[in-house]
Amino acid sequence: MLRILQVGVGGYGSTWLDTVTARPGQATYAGLIDVDDRALTAAATQTGVPAERCFHSLAEALGHVEADAVLCVVPPAVHESVIVPALEAGMHVLTEKPIAHSLEATRRIVEAGRASPGLLMISQKGRYHPWVRRFRELIAANELGRLNHVTLHYRYGLFQWGASGFRHRMDDPLLVEMSIHHFDLLRALLGRNALSVAGRSWNWDWSGFAGDVAASLVFAMEDEVPAVYEGNCVSAGEPTSWYGDIRAECERGTLTMRYPRLIMQRRRDEPMQGGEHVMDVTEPQVGQAAAFAEFLAAIAERRAPETAAADNQHSMAMLFAAVEACHTGASCSTERYLGV
Ligand SMILES: NC(=O)c1ccc[n+]([C@@H]2O[C@H](COP(=O)([O-])OP(=O)(O)OC[C@H]3O[C@@H](n4cnc5c(N)ncnc54)[C@H](O)[C@@H]3O)[C@@H](O)[C@H]2O)c1
Repeated sequence: MLRILQVGVGGYGSTWLDTVTARPGQATYAGLIDVDDRALTAAATQTGVPAERCFHSLAEALGHVEADAVLCVVPPAVHESVIVPALEAGMHVLTEKPIAHSLEATRRIVEAGRASPGLLMISQKGRYHPWVRRFRELIAANELGRLNHVTLHYRYGLFQWGASGFRHRMDDPLLVEMSIHHFDLLRALLGRNALSVAGRSWNWDWSGFAGDVAASLVFAMEDEVPAVYEGNCVSAGEPTSWYGDIRAECERGTLTMRYPRLIMQRRRDEPMQGGEHVMDVTEPQVGQAAAFAEFLAAIAERRAPETAAADNQHSMAMLFAAVEACHTGASCSTERYLGV
């Protein structure tokens, strides 16, 4: 039985409570931690964790209860202060994306993960879906011929994005808080890492955000496959799904994910209608339970999870290279953000 301390139980952390308690034979709460008493009380009521195992800091919790793992669901700028002490205490860590808000903090966290006997996994719920596996298989098998390029268009009206407002004050909220999902998803779908990126990001004075909320990027993925990314988290019009709309253009057809369907269209001489329904696409939040299952399985089997920090660095490299590309206007290699 894995004894878990969850740090951050308000905001998105509240969605983790049922995910953890849904596995009574495998995981249990050693304690709950939050600086906000209201969030702590609500989480304690929901989970049945007694008041004596509710704390205001990880240090306080570690002085009172025994635990095997930490689930980190605090804002990215706070991740390092939670993850590094947990790893130093030899505990396993499952953290929400992104690893951290800055390159320096990310490096220190990854380094702490290397030095610890504990496992460090990033919960990238997007890639833990059957449709993602199927998309990748079809691409890897050249079902529609050689892959030409892929597009991912994301638009959403996140004007009130979270209750605490940290995203409204931070740098690059789109890229750091949302696009990291899509970058990791692109790697999962294509089975390829990114080599470089060029593009720009921008903001407008009525967005309500201090940092850039829209971006247009072109990644060069391995095998010279371009991945075109367009993101806008404060779009006033019809949104895409949380995953975005995704399309792989291949030699003999296209593979398209438009929630809730994965569709394949084969090239014909006439303009195409419809297409072949490959499978239904699961609701994004389903991926959280799948990511948690992977965390438990990796610990039980003493292996690295799919989204271990070592793998996730490739997605973080896409993020930091994209930030640099947008800030400098230059094409940026992902390489210098790897090998932490
Ligand atoms: N996977 C997803 O789809 C998804 C969705 C939303 C958020 N997230 C991630 O979850 C994390 C948290 O985001 P959020 O939206 O819940 O933020 P939030 O600000 O809404 O909530 C964070 C919670 O952490 C608490 N907290 C803050 N600092 C703390 C500290 N030092 N110690 C203990 N508790 C502290 C706050 O009181 C609050 O209850 C981020 O990494 C974010 O990227 C992931």
